[in-house]
Amino acid sequence: MKIGFIGGGAMAEVMISIIVRNKLAPAKSISSSDINWARGAHLERKYGVEVMNDNRAAANGAEVVILAIKPQNLNEIMADLSGQLKPDQLVLSIVAGKRISTLRDGLKHGRIVRSMPNTPAQIGDGMTVWTATPEVTPQQKEWAKSLLSAMGVEIYVDDEGLIDMSTALSGSGPAYFFLFVEALVAAAQHIGIPQAMAENLAIQTMVGSGHLLQKSGKTPAELRKMVTSPRGTTAEAIAQFEKGGFFDLVSKAVTAAYEKSKKLGA
Ligand SMILES: NC(=O)c1ccc[n+]([C@@H]2O[C@H](COP(=O)([O-])OP(=O)(O)OC[C@H]3O[C@@H](n4cnc5c(N)ncnc54)[C@H](OP(=O)(O)O)[C@@H]3O)[C@@H](O)[C@H]2O)c1
Repeated sequence: MKIGFIGGGAMAEVMISIIVRNKLAPAKSISSSDINWARGAHLERKYGVEVMNDNRAAANGAEVVILAIKPQNLNEIMADLSGQLKPDQLVLSIVAGKRISTLRDGLKHGRIVRSMPNTPAQIGDGMTVWTATPEVTPQQKEWAKSLLSAMGVEIYVDDEGLIDMSTALSGSGPAYFFLFVEALVAAAQHIGIPQAMAENLAIQTMVGSGHLLQKSGKTPAELRKMVTSPRGTTAEAIAQFEKGGFFDLVSKAVTAAYEKSKKLGA
């Protein structure tokens, strides 16, 4: 399996490491094109992939072409690759917000998988939502599924609109979680817990609660109620969250991310 990466940044590196580690393709059959030579040098040294500064050369002869560039760089890349791809090549895009219709028109190409992974993919614990055009063969879908499942959990959807929505939840979600941990650490320091201890307490509490949520079979609301005894300490904290409009704030944040995702695709 020959794979060509267009863009050799953070997410490309995650995917290269997973492809090599899971033996989905050998490193020598992977090429990566990036305008940043330092990135190329790093990928070549660390994984032994072929690196270049030529998107057409990276795509040429690849069975799978992976678009791993920022949304703002997509137009120049599509202009470069337009009409250059063979009809049986699979294009797998991880570019946030960019619709299949944009990729199809810009590349003049039909076989496209659009996916939205997230950063925990780095440790094989990611969440990816993806879809494919009707032209993608069952074998190509299987290959895409094996790559995305090696990155964590994957969910295939027929409705592409769900990918824009998922971008606002699972795509951006790791940042919401980190922000909440930052807020907890700051609050803990405010009441006098030393920083290192506050970080330990906050991280283990979040991670442990996440595992409990995953393994207990109970809903978040059930588990929350189990910690919240009437008139106890947790009840005091939850009352403050409610007073501050926590649900409304989270809803506004997720909606803003969704609107931005739709705007990126427009
Ligand atoms: N990081 C995440 O959490 C995450 C999660 C899900 C999806 N995504 C999506 O994945 C995509 C890649 O994200 P990333 O974090 O890997 O970005 P990144 O680290 O910035 O990598 C993109 C790379 O592409 C290079 N590049 C820019 N223009 C190019 C061109 N014309 N030809 C070839 N290479 C070019 C960039 O070089 P310069 O740095 O010199 O511009 C950079 O090295 C984005 O569309 C993002 O929305 C990211």
